[in-house]
Amino acid sequence: MKRLILTSSLALGAAMLAAAAAYNLAYADDSLTVAAPPKPPMGGRLLNRETAPLQPFAVPPADAALSQRIAGQGNPSADDQLLLRGAYLARAGDCVACHTSKGGAPFAGGLALASPLGAIYSTNITPDKEHGIGDWSYEDFARLMRTGVTRAGYTVYPAMPYPSYSRLSEEDMQALYAYFTKAVPPSAQANRANDIPWPLSMRWPLAIWRKLFAPTPTPYAAPAGGDQELARGAYLVEGLGHCGSCHTPRSTTLQEKSLRDDSSRLYLSGGQVVDGWSVPSLRNEHGGGIAGWSQADLVEFLRTGRNQFTASFGAMNDVVEHSMQYLTEADLNAISRYLLSLSPRNDAAPYRYDEVSATAAYEGRPQTPGAALYLDRCAACHRSNGTGYGKAFPALAGNPVLQTGDATSAIRIILQGGRQPATDSVKGGLVMAPYAQLLNDQQVAEVTSYIQTAWGNRGATVSAADVAKIRKTAKPVEDRAP
Ligand code: HEC
Ligand code: HEC
Ligand code: HEC
Repeated sequence: MKRLILTSSLALGAAMLAAAAAYNLAYADDSLTVAAPPKPPMGGRLLNRETAPLQPFAVPPADAALSQRIAGQGNPSADDQLLLRGAYLARAGDCVACHTSKGGAPFAGGLALASPLGAIYSTNITPDKEHGIGDWSYEDFARLMRTGVTRAGYTVYPAMPYPSYSRLSEEDMQALYAYFTKAVPPSAQANRANDIPWPLSMRWPLAIWRKLFAPTPTPYAAPAGGDQELARGAYLVEGLGHCGSCHTPRSTTLQEKSLRDDSSRLYLSGGQVVDGWSVPSLRNEHGGGIAGWSQADLVEFLRTGRNQFTASFGAMNDVVEHSMQYLTEADLNAISRYLLSLSPRNDAAPYRYDEVSATAAYEGRPQTPGAALYLDRCAACHRSNGTGYGKAFPALAGNPVLQTGDATSAIRIILQGGRQPATDSVKGGLVMAPYAQLLNDQQVAEVTSYIQTAWGNRGATVSAADVAKIRKTAKPVEDRAP
């Protein structure tokens, strides 16, 4: 009996860890203590979002055939309009990023999401009757999307962000269902079993997790009166956009601490490290949030991955490339207005440019080894006064990435470089080359500490030991063609 309870709670604990580890949370965040990850399976390796879905798809988008067919008609039928709406919603939900493996057919699944217990593979959600969801009724589909319970009756890992998707309106759910069962080309790719060893692979603890932490589905209905744009923004952010799955902090049992703004200011206040990058606050606050951005700045960032304050990197590149760039101006405005309406949680003072470091640099007397390294290695692009070059090379002065106690992203981008997302409006993503081979841990620490504190920035300084830790998982950015 005792042993049974022990195994059960072990399995439950393990499942909880695996649950949100979809985004490598447990892997990357030292504050979560987990057992060492099992060795990758023979001949394979644990992929993560960075090595796989960031690749631009070599295949045409799943809705190319649909768009082509409809383009030939003057007035799309009601059925076709439903399919087009579903295609749009699938983009807003970024289904493709997780449900497509590198070089694989769109939505055929097979992408490995690393977890401390082993890889969790996304599934085939094309209309193939044997391997996909071709046999699923609308009720089966809606149940999975709202509660995480599959047609076969088991609960999926919340790597699939069903706690967010449970917000979907009935209408949108129907459009998505129509799209996935009628417009997406079927693929006969078999699903891959997860690499999680028994007994940790048992699914029943996931049902307990769901009962404890997943919200009671409350399908959205647009309010009759009031501010429609704001309501639409909240709906897209909390629901399909599942922004909180990365941008909201999680509990030790790995559920998001808040799924909506009405319940807590922790909502979107900055999440755990994802793929080795820290995830900033999306609240209207100084010290790492988006205070000071206009609605237009935010729209520009979501559509192109850059604006006058920052350039996107890490998992956010995926969100921009596969999802946000396709949204309408109206929806991007709604999202941005909603985010700017979120009251601050931390009370940092507004950023103010400070000339001291720029003057010292200009006069050729850098005050620290970090300042000298910066002039030598970085100023060509980011400028000695930290203001960058327009939207090509981001400004570092006042950059929200450099205003917090967490320098993870700054250290990582210096070690492995970065590449701006390629979008329809901005084709070639500019690259910052990696410095891992050029600078040792002490040098990286010095230059990081410099940019975190120069020009009035209020980020934390770092040590060589901090750099050494991040270096272990740093992979040089791929100079992939757009
Ligand atoms: C962050 C990654 C992620 C995103 C985004 C995502 N999914 Fe999933 N989804 C998964 C994973 C992983 C599984 C399998 C989980 C498991 O086996 O426990 C899954 C499972 C499913 C299933 C169950 C399939 C089956 O055969 O049981 C369906 C249906 C599904 N997703 C649809 C969608 C749709 C529609 C969207 C977009 C609106 C979407 N998913 C977005 C990761 C994701
Ligand atoms: C898969 C994880 C993930 C999801 C989902 C996600 N983000 Fe992000 N986001 C990140 C990471 C990592 C960063 C930090 C890198 C950067 O600044 O580009 C970031 C940065 C941002 C920034 C820049 C903020 C700043 O202060 O520099 C904005 C704005 C943003 N995200 C908006 C959104 C919105 C809106 C959504 C939902 C539609 C969303 N994100 C969903 C991971 C994610
Ligand atoms: C060849 C031009 C170039 C050089 C040299 C360069 N960078 Fe960058 N830097 C970029 C580009 C382009 C980006 C945007 C990359 C992305 O979005 O992934 C960037 C991004 C950054 C960021 C993240 C800011 C943001 O909002 O995306 C930091 C921090 C940074 N660089 C620091 C440095 C430091 C420190 C050095 C010197 C050790 C350096 N850079 C050298 C071009 C450069």
